Amino acid sequence: MMASTTIRGARLHYRVEGEGDPLLFIHGYPLAGQLWDEAVGELRADHRCIVPDLRGHGASEATERVTIADYADDLIGILDEIGEGGPVTLIGLSMGGYVAFDFVRRYGERVAALALVDTRAAADSADAAAGRRETAERVLREGSGFVAAEMATKLFASGADAPLREEWRQIMAATPPLGVAAALHAIAERPDSYPVLEALKVPVLIVVGAEDSITPPDEARRMQALLPSAVLEIIPGAGHLPPVEQPEAFTAALRRFLR
Ligand code: MLT
Repeated sequence: MMASTTIRGARLHYRVEGEGDPLLFIHGYPLAGQLWDEAVGELRADHRCIVPDLRGHGASEATERVTIADYADDLIGILDEIGEGGPVTLIGLSMGGYVAFDFVRRYGERVAALALVDTRAAADSADAAAGRRETAERVLREGSGFVAAEMATKLFASGADAPLREEWRQIMAATPPLGVAAALHAIAERPDSYPVLEALKVPVLIVVGAEDSITPPDEARRMQALLPSAVLEIIPGAGHLPPVEQPEAFTAALRRFLR
C-alpha cells in the first residue's frame, strides 16, 4: 500500500507491505525509501514493512528547517496513522541510524530491536559540521546536482556497476534542494549518540559495507565495542549502501538477526 499523510506541515509519503512483526526502514541522506526495495521484497513474506520517504526526500514534501528529532517525530506520526502502536524493529542506514538513535532515546518503549546500518554514534567535528552548512548554502544556490554527483562517487564499493551508480545519482539529484539543505543542517546539529547506544536494552545488529568510505567499518567496530551483545555483520563488496549493492547478503544478515 502506498499512502501519504500530512504531518506537522508536510505531506509525507510512505508504503506498507506484508503482514507480521513490524519493521520500520529509515533511509539515509539524500536517499529515498527505494533503498529498501530488495530487502522489503523478501521480508514482506513474514513482516509488516513500513517504508517512509523522510521529509524533503523522495516523494515527501520538504520544509525549511528540520532536526533529526523532527524526522523521528514524523515516523511516530506515520506509525500512529497506520495503527502501529506497539514496538517495531528499526532499521536505519546512515542518517537513518541517527534518526533511529533519537527515536530510541525518546520513544524507547516503541522499539523492539535495532539494526544500525552503515552509520555511526559520534557527532560531527566542528569542521565537518561547518562543511555541511557550507554545502547546504551551495545547494540552495545551485541545486542538488553537484551533491548527487559527489555522493555517487563516494557511496559505492569500487566494483559497483555503472547503472547502479547512475540510478542513485538520479534519485539524489531529484531530491529537492530544500530537503537536502535541511538534512545537512539536521545532520550537522545532531548530538553524540554514544550515551543512547550504551543504554540500549534491545537486541542490536550492526551492519557495514566492507568498503564503506563514509561510515567505515571502524565506526561499526567502535559501536560494537560498547555493546558486546550486538552482532556485527561486515558485507563484502559493499560500500555505504549494502541494501542495493549486495541485497542478498544484506537481507540474509537481517534475516539471521530477525530470527
Ligand atoms: C547518509 O548516508 O545518511 C549520510 O552520508 C550521513 C552522513 O554524511 O553523516
